Amino acid sequence: MIRILAGLLLCALALRAQEPAFEFLLEPPKGLPKMVLPTAYEPTPAMFALGQRLFHDAMLSADRSVSCATCHPAPGFAHPDPRPAGVGGRRAKRHAPSLFNRGYSTLQRWDGASASLEAFVLEPIADPNEMALALDDALARLADDDRYRAEFERVFGGKPDRTSLQRALATFVRGIVRGDSAYDRFLNGDHGAMTAEQRTGFWLFESKAKCWQCHTPGLFTDEKFHNTGIGVRDDKPEPGRARVTKATADTGAFKTPTLRGVALTAPYMHDGSLPTLQAVVEFYVRGGNRNPHLDSRMQPLELSATEQRALIAFLESL
Ligand code: HEC
Ligand code: HEC
Repeated sequence: MIRILAGLLLCALALRAQEPAFEFLLEPPKGLPKMVLPTAYEPTPAMFALGQRLFHDAMLSADRSVSCATCHPAPGFAHPDPRPAGVGGRRAKRHAPSLFNRGYSTLQRWDGASASLEAFVLEPIADPNEMALALDDALARLADDDRYRAEFERVFGGKPDRTSLQRALATFVRGIVRGDSAYDRFLNGDHGAMTAEQRTGFWLFESKAKCWQCHTPGLFTDEKFHNTGIGVRDDKPEPGRARVTKATADTGAFKTPTLRGVALTAPYMHDGSLPTLQAVVEFYVRGGNRNPHLDSRMQPLELSATEQRALIAFLESL
C-alpha cells in the first residue's frame, strides 16, 4: 500500500501569505518522523481536498456562521481569543490549540478525552458552544448539497455519513504538518539557519531550562499529561486529565502541546491565560503555579533576562 502523507506547504507568495496552499507530500518535512496512518482506510489526496473544503465551510454550524477554520485559522491554526466564540457568541470551554502535527498524537483534546482524530473531529459540530449542529442535520445538509453529494460519492462511493465525514476531516487535519524550520535546517548542517541568540536558546532549552523533559525535540512534545499549575485557583487545580483517568495523580494535568510554530499560536496554555512567550518563560522561571499535584519537574529556574530572551528567540525558530 502506498503510504501517502498529507502535508502542508506554506505558499511562498507574500500576496497569499494568510492563505497557505496545501498539498499532499510523499515524505514528512525535515525534522519530523513518518506519521503512523490509520489502518482502517487509506488517506488519499481526494479525501484531503474534501476535508479541506469541509474544514472551511460554515454550513456545518447551526446558523451557518462558524466553520472549523473560524477557531483554527491559518497560519497558526490556533485562535487569538483565550476562549473563542462559537455559534451565537457562546464561548468554547478552553483555548483552541494549534493543529500543527496533531496526526502524530492519538489522544486529542487538552485532557486527552478523545481516543483518536477520527473520534474527535465530529465533536465540535455538535458541541453547543462551538458549531451547535446535530450530526444528523449536518449529514442531511451535505446530502442535500449537489456538489458535496457528488464529491462524497466520488471519494467514498456513497452518501455522506458519519464515517466518511470523520475520515475526510481527519485526513485534512493530519495534513497540517509543520517541520523544516530554521531549527531543522540548522540540525541538518546549515549553521547560518539559526542566529547566535537562537543557538544559545537551544542550548538552554536542552540544559538548565529543562524544557526538553516534556517538550521532547523533534515533535517538541512527549504527548503526555503534566500538571504545570495552569488553571490553579486558591491552590486548587482543575480536574484536567483526572476527568478521564479518574486517577488523583492526574489532577490538573494537561497535554504537553507541541512547540512547533509556537510563535504563531498565542495566547498560550489550555486556558489561553498567558498572552506572550515572554509570559510563558516567566511562568517557568518561577517554577509554575504551586498546587498539591504540581509535576516534580517544575522547579524555579535561574535564567537571566538575556537567557530568557535567547530561549524565546529559540522558540521562534521552530
Ligand atoms: C468555537 C471554536 C471551535 C470550533 C468551531 C472548532 N474548534 Fe477545534 N478546538 C477548539 C477548542 C476550544 C479545542 C480544545 C478542546 C478541549 O481540549 O477540550 C479544540 C480542539 C481541537 C482539536 C484537538 C487538538 C489537540 O491538540 O488535542 C482538533 C483536532 C480540532 N479542534 C479540530 C477541529 C475541527 C476539525 C473542527 C471543525 C469540525 C473544529 N476543531 C472546530 C475550538 C474550536
Ligand atoms: C513538566 C513538563 C513540562 C516542562 C518541564 C515544560 N513544559 Fe511547557 N508545557 C507543558 C504542559 C503540560 C503545557 C500545557 C499546560 C496547560 O495548558 O495546562 C505546556 C505549555 C507550554 C507552552 C504553551 C504552548 C501552547 O501552544 O499553548 C509553551 C510555549 C511552553 N510550554 C514552553 C516551555 C518552555 C520554554 C519550557 C522550559 C522553560 C517548558 N515549556 C517546560 C509541560 C512542560
